[in-house]
Amino acid sequence: MKLLEDRIKRDGTVLPGEVLKVDNFLNHQVDPQLMYELGGEFKRLFADAGVTRILTVESSGIAPAVMAGLQMNVPVVFARKHRSLTLTDNLYTARVYSYTKQVNNDISIDKRFIDPDDKILIIDDFLANGQAVEGMLEIAKAANVEVAGVGVVIEKRFQKGHQLVLDQGIHLEALASVTSFDDNQVHFAEDDAD
Ligand code: G4P
Ligand code: NA
Ligand code: NA
Repeated sequence: MKLLEDRIKRDGTVLPGEVLKVDNFLNHQVDPQLMYELGGEFKRLFADAGVTRILTVESSGIAPAVMAGLQMNVPVVFARKHRSLTLTDNLYTARVYSYTKQVNNDISIDKRFIDPDDKILIIDDFLANGQAVEGMLEIAKAANVEVAGVGVVIEKRFQKGHQLVLDQGIHLEALASVTSFDDNQVHFAEDDAD
């Protein structure tokens, strides 16, 4: 998506360890207008998928997921990383390992917010090693719901997550697909190189 790629080129910084810092529009400050456009793109890409609910994980997945939900007119539920006082025992839980932070997080959603008839679209900000998406897929499986696809704002195609999702035969869409950070520049895949 050109709008997003241009914004990444303008405002993104490449940090050591192949990390892309985009905290002025996605990971800290959020640009609502841009998020709204991204939501519209997700709607277009998954138009025929019969999505009834969007699933993401706090915190940075929420902004794009909510805008996709607004555009697609479906509810959005985000998995929580920390046990909330109001969360009951009635949870689906998956363990997510973060390579970058080298910690395990349990992510949970209340069973009330997923329905056996649901067709779930999983949305996240980044697809890197794919552990967050794997956790959400595990929750979808436990809830016995169909997965319409996985949509991510930015994928680092050279890391494990991209192939991990495709190997399961899941429809994957990345609005920006980074192929390398050679020479400290962000390089994107051609739009049709899927
Ligand atoms: P994974 O979910 O794909 O396995 O990601 P990984 O463990 O490698 O990364 C852990 C966290 O770092 C995730 O956020 C993920 O979104 C984020 N991340 C991975 N690569 C990048 C990158 O190049 N740039 C940025 N900005 N973030 C990256 P999280 O811990 O779940 O945090 P948050 O959603 O609360 O922000
Ligand atoms: Na995230
Ligand atoms: Na993040």
